[in-house]
This record gives sequence, C-alpha cells and structure tokens, in this order.
Amino acid sequence: MTIYRATVLDTPVDPFQGGTLRSESDVALAVTDGRISARGPLAEVRAGAPDDEIVDLRHGVLLPGFVDTHVHYPQVRAIGALGMPLLDWLQHSALPEEARLHDTSYAQQIAAEFLHGLTSAGTTSALVFGSHFASAVDVLFTHAEAIGVRVTSGLVVSDRLLRDELLTTPERAYDESVTLAARWAGHDRLRYAVTPRFSYSCSAELLDACGAAYKDITGAWCTSHVNENVTEVAEVARLFGGSSYVGTYQDHGLLGAHTVLAHNVHPTEAELDMLAASGAAVAHCPTSNSSLGSGMFPLAAHLQHGVRVAMGTDVGGGTGFSMLKEGLQAYFMQSLLGDQGVPLTSAHLLHLATTAGADALGLRDDVGELSVGKQFDAVLVAPEADSPLGVGIRHAAGPDDALAKIFAMGTPADLTQVWIGGRLL
Ligand code: GUN
Ligand code: ZN
Repeated sequence: MTIYRATVLDTPVDPFQGGTLRSESDVALAVTDGRISARGPLAEVRAGAPDDEIVDLRHGVLLPGFVDTHVHYPQVRAIGALGMPLLDWLQHSALPEEARLHDTSYAQQIAAEFLHGLTSAGTTSALVFGSHFASAVDVLFTHAEAIGVRVTSGLVVSDRLLRDELLTTPERAYDESVTLAARWAGHDRLRYAVTPRFSYSCSAELLDACGAAYKDITGAWCTSHVNENVTEVAEVARLFGGSSYVGTYQDHGLLGAHTVLAHNVHPTEAELDMLAASGAAVAHCPTSNSSLGSGMFPLAAHLQHGVRVAMGTDVGGGTGFSMLKEGLQAYFMQSLLGDQGVPLTSAHLLHLATTAGADALGLRDDVGELSVGKQFDAVLVAPEADSPLGVGIRHAAGPDDALAKIFAMGTPADLTQVWIGGRLL
C-alpha cells in the first residue's frame, strides 16, 4: 500500500446537475493494488497503515486522470494542419497519413508517438479511433497493453468515397473486427469499439455489417462521427435518401448506451431526442471544431434534451492531446455564444475532462474521481513555482480559481506525474 498526501480536486457530483468542485487541500489517499482503499485526514488513514510509504504531493494539485472520448491514433503526425474544412482536410492531410499505417513498422512508430502524446497529456483512459488496417490496430493494442493505459479501440471501416487503400467490404469489415475483438477485448484494460468512420464513407451494407459486429462482440462499444460539417451533413442526407445523420446509425443497430458519436455540431431537435432516448453520448471536440471551422457546439441544446456530453481532443483535427486546452476552448466557445451558450465554470471543465468521459465510456465505477473504491488514475499538476501558472495557483482566490488557472495556463509540461491503476508511468 502507498499513501499519497495531496491537494485533491475532483467532481464526484455532476456540476451540470447541481454538483460543485470537491476540494481538499491536504488529504491522504491510501492506494492498495491500484485502487483507493481509504481517503481522509492523514492521521486517520495512517492509523490503518502505520508502516506504509507516504508520498507527499502537496507541491502540486492532484486531479483524476483525464478521459479523452475521441482521439485518432493514426493522426499524431497530422496535428496542426490549419486552414481546411473537414472534407478537404481529410483528403489532403489526414487520409494520406492514415494510408501510411499499412506499413507495420511505420505503425509501430506512430503507436509509440501516439501513446506518449496521450499519457504525457495526463490522459489515462481513451476511446481511440483506430486504423483502417487490422495490422496497425494490433500494433496499437500491443503498445497500449504494455503501457497499461485504458484504451477502447477498433478497426476503422469505410467502403466508399475515401482513397482506395482505405476501403474494405462489409464481409471483411465484419470478419476483421470480430477477429481483433477476440484477440484483444477484455485483455487487461483494453476493450473493442466497432468503428465505421462516418456514414459519408459507409454504405448501408457496411453499416449493417458494423451493426452485426456490434451485436456479436461481447462488451463492444461503437464510435463514429456525426453532424460535424454542413457540407458533410448535406452529403449524408443525399447518400441516405434524406435520412437524418443520427438516423443512419440508429437504422443499422449502432445507437445505444455504448455508443459515442463525435462532434454533433449541427443536430436537429429530432436527432437530439433520438440520441437521448438511446443513451448514446456525444464527444465534444472544441479545438477541432474551431480549427476545421466546423461550427459552435450547441451544448445548451444537448443538456436540454438530456444527451450525455463528454469531451475529446480529436487529434489530429484537434490541435493536440491536452484535455486542459480542450476545456479552455470549450469555455471560449460557450462564452462567444453569448445568450445561446452555457456559462462554464472550472468545475464544469474538470467534469467534462474526467467524470463525464468516464460516464460516456461506461467506466464510472472505476475512474473519473478520486474516491474510495476507484482506481488510482491520477495526474499531478506541478508547474515551476515561478511560472505564471505556479504563481497563479499560489495566489488563487480559492480552489475553483486555482482550477480555472490550470485550465487557462496548464500544458502537458506542467503535468509532472501520471498514474494508471496505481502505477506511476
Ligand atoms: N470525419 C471522418 N473522419 C474524420 C476525422 O478523421 N476527423 C474528423 N474530425 N472528422 C472526421
Ligand atoms: Zn474524429
């Protein structure tokens, strides 16, 4: 057992449902076999474990590990291509890079870079858009298992309108998905996600095959994109004979409580109702929506309709792995929406980066907050004392203000330690 003594901030009760930031400036967390076995004043926790090591983390702020609900493994080298809307960016930037993962040795390098980027940004759980190549998905799972990160991922499938090397058939998509899931799902912290790229690049037959895989793979998740860009939305309506975008997934058995759809910037009321009724979650990706000019996320409408919302970086449409940056950008965009926006506090941002993601990924029993019974997935924010963030935290008006400064100024360089299941990375 190890006892961590720390300033801890987390959001056990959803701030969108009346919860507030939980803050304790000097609390002890006992961690046994990767789980938090006790939490309280040091003397109390110590009484149950007089001989165990105490690790003093009070020079920083301890947060739950971040949960990124939408991030693309093959796009780590595509981050930062500015100036294009979605379909042009896919064609000219993202997809040429994705095609390179056909080469397994290239995929090895990308997997290492990807997982390094993810974990050094404090992300300990992620729903990861995999590769179009089963060999490259194997590589990702192999590396993720070695590191111990909580990854849900799968084979990305498409059968139209993308470059030829990335296309498959419904039969092959089903077979390769089921084979990969049999090899990896349930291993350590790994799970399988059936992953049609987006309805734009998937025929009805391919979506049917995905629906069959989703049904046949025990414990499977499903992820895709929806309503991201107005041109894309119009094309999907045309390709599917006027069906709504969310409806294309619903019609093929892909919408449910284990489904996470990224973006949803341009939903109709009926689509929001469909999402709410199904229990599916939406991954809001603020820097991507800004960078690709996709639009302003209607958070208020999602909340009003009771749609679950979490957050994702959408690397490489998004501008990096930092969930702190995503939180800040989410705040900016809601603020710019004026009366139409949702005023976000730092507690909302932490919730979106942690507990909301854990909820969307069905991991709420294990991660998202630093309470007794949860896994010790945590990140220490410990900036240089004389950096603007170090100074800001020290002079903050209180914990909510300190957390706001962490979102405003924090970068991966300020995250000095990351634990998953009690293990320091
Ligand atoms: N829609 C289909 N593929 C992608 C992708 O790679 N990134 C984003 N942002 N949207 C997509
Ligand atoms: Zn994406």
